Amino acid sequence: MQTVQADITTLALDAIVNAANSSLLGGGGVDGAIHRAAGPGLIEACRSLGGCAVGDAKLTRGFLLRAKFVIHTVGPVWRGGTQNEAGLLASCYRSALELAATHHLRSIAFPGISTGVYGYPPELAAAIAVETVTAALQRHAGIEGVIFCCFSASALQRYQKLLEGS
Ligand code: AR6
Repeated sequence: MQTVQADITTLALDAIVNAANSSLLGGGGVDGAIHRAAGPGLIEACRSLGGCAVGDAKLTRGFLLRAKFVIHTVGPVWRGGTQNEAGLLASCYRSALELAATHHLRSIAFPGISTGVYGYPPELAAAIAVETVTAALQRHAGIEGVIFCCFSASALQRYQKLLEGS
């Protein structure tokens, strides 16, 4: 596991993960950036997927992105922590890695799912991300590289600390 500070749309990997909404028809934040960079083919592909439940993940090609595939997942909206937000967020990371393993993808980058518009406290979300990915990688030997892609310097520091301790 590694961390970088970058715009996730610039990464040349097998897959990047999109923090989408359950319609899978685009939005703001990282979702908007991915759709802009991938071009109109991505929205066409998403239309045929029939949406996505919170905690679940679906795969499309990457179209004009440098990444070959996009794994779309839907994080929980933060509602104070009593609505199984932690379980649903962990499920996003697990589902995305399961899908990657099923499709023999070896390198994958995650944004901070739910930590923007959806309001998940970033410290709590980062701890769940690192813990869940660490556990899931035990089951998926084919996945060689997981990158936590941070948009801000503060997010990068948070992940660096967690990865030093793991
Ligand atoms: N590269 C990497 N990380 C990014 C980028 C980027 N280009 N842009 C933003 N981030 P958000 P959410 C970070 O709001 O909270 C959309 O409208 C950002 O700093 O994109 O899961 C969807 O359609 C933050 O840490 O996703 C949904 O409706 C993280 O990505 C809703 O927002 C996630 O922020 C999903 O909300």
